[in-house]
Amino acid sequence: MIKIAPSILSADFGRLLEQSDAVAKAGADWLHIDVMDGSFVPNITIGPCVVKSLRPNLDIFFDVHLMIDDPYTYAEAFADAGADLICFHYEADYNVERVIDKIRSLGKKVGIAIKPKTPAETVFPYLHLIDMVLVMTVEPGFGGQKFMADMMPKVRALSNKIDTEGLDVLIQADGGIDTGTVGLAAQSGVDVMVAGSAVYGKDDYKQAISQLKEAAQQAKAAKTSC
Ligand code: DX5
Ligand code: ZN
Repeated sequence: MIKIAPSILSADFGRLLEQSDAVAKAGADWLHIDVMDGSFVPNITIGPCVVKSLRPNLDIFFDVHLMIDDPYTYAEAFADAGADLICFHYEADYNVERVIDKIRSLGKKVGIAIKPKTPAETVFPYLHLIDMVLVMTVEPGFGGQKFMADMMPKVRALSNKIDTEGLDVLIQADGGIDTGTVGLAAQSGVDVMVAGSAVYGKDDYKQAISQLKEAAQQAKAAKTSC
């Protein structure tokens, strides 16, 4: 089953808890929490305090996407704050195994994210150590950008590698996912769809989530039956 992970980046931060609770109750599988430090990306969002305040009030898996220069140092603060999965960027810390070990030692699931210009092969050596690979389908930093369909060969390469090696690693796509693009992502092998504007930007969260799921499942089924 395809998972939908609405991104809080598109929430009204003045109503973050209320809107995120509504998203969780509307059938979202995960809550995608975008953390930006103004250095790794040219935008600043939230830190561990916000995650900690949300945690006891929301009954949903916390998928924390760290777009920060120093994931090694800050992993612990996000783990303590209640992250379920901590995803860091390959481009932020080339001592990838050290960061993976740190997150594992904190008892959390681990993801590695790659920016559009980073090839799939860079993460091949770590696939057996992680739970998820995040393929950015926009340049990280801002919500509401256009989906980069040219990232799909990268998703297919990762999907083939994961299947060939018999690994249990999810592929996540992040950026520009909506009802028009989710099908292609699903057909290419994406398991977890991050959707900011396509969920928080809509009036009816339940309808938005079910339309995304339906479009993804239908496209996947159509491909399988060919
Ligand atoms: C971008 C973030 C995304 C973004 C997705 O750097 O990582 O999670 O919020 O937003 P949409 O779905 O609007 O592209
Ligand atoms: Zn994200």
